Amino acid sequence: MDNRPIGFFDSGLGGLTSIPYLRDLLPEERVIYFGDTARTPYGSKAVTTIRRFSTEIADFLVKSNVKMIVIACNTVSATCLDELQERFPKIPILGIISPAARETAVSLEEGDELGIIGTKVTIASHAYRRMIEEANPGVSIHETACPAFVPLIEEGIIHHEIMDSTIRYYMDDFIKDNRINKLILGCTHYPLIKENLSRIYPDVSIINPSSIVIKNVESILRERDMLAGGSDFTDVFYASDLSENFVNMIDHIFEDADDNDDRKIKFIDLDIEKEKTHGLL
Ligand code: DGL
Repeated sequence: MDNRPIGFFDSGLGGLTSIPYLRDLLPEERVIYFGDTARTPYGSKAVTTIRRFSTEIADFLVKSNVKMIVIACNTVSATCLDELQERFPKIPILGIISPAARETAVSLEEGDELGIIGTKVTIASHAYRRMIEEANPGVSIHETACPAFVPLIEEGIIHHEIMDSTIRYYMDDFIKDNRINKLILGCTHYPLIKENLSRIYPDVSIINPSSIVIKNVESILRERDMLAGGSDFTDVFYASDLSENFVNMIDHIFEDADDNDDRKIKFIDLDIEKEKTHGLL
């Protein structure tokens, strides 16, 4: 048994989309989440910059004594997973791409046309394509980057015609020309527009890596006898810039939970390591 928290991080609020699945599958586990809201989006930045940012965050999580790190960001998983695993060989570090790629690869059927959407960096890395083709050669895969989705989602512009038009702008031809029937949400922000996507493309079945990764968290912790039991630690959510949307998303994710009062949100500047605790309610 290991009651230390699991570290999750993302460029912003996208990685929060995994947390409800963790709560469902592993309710005893506690979380330290870091959203780099001051520097989001990562998905159109240089890989060297993304490496620098994610190393700083991983250092911070390790100093916070996490038992495992989940990279709840496709962009970082596609570019920095190996470096982070080499830097911290004793801590299990799980990227979000490989669990979903493996599960998708075995589920594809004859005639499936698989679409993958993500940030520019994730799509340019072809990380999903490579892993799926390795496990299931010969499948038909199409990829496209949707760089304007993340800024809109971080702004909370979701249930709005602007989001729907942006989806159509990037995806109408992509879905139609390639006759896509299955779609991987290759960015952890995108589950927040899953309803828009299902409404606009009702015949496309959606694959959500934010949920799949949690099954792998469970198997890794179980294998190593590191599952928590009866921890009195509370979930802590850090943001490098405390945006209202970040707080609202946490409220939304935990709206059914009865431990609201114990949650903490902190604002942290990684350079000067200055912390300020905010009451959530
Ligand atoms: N949510 C992240 C991802 O999964 C990053 C998006 C971004 O910062 O551009 O790719």
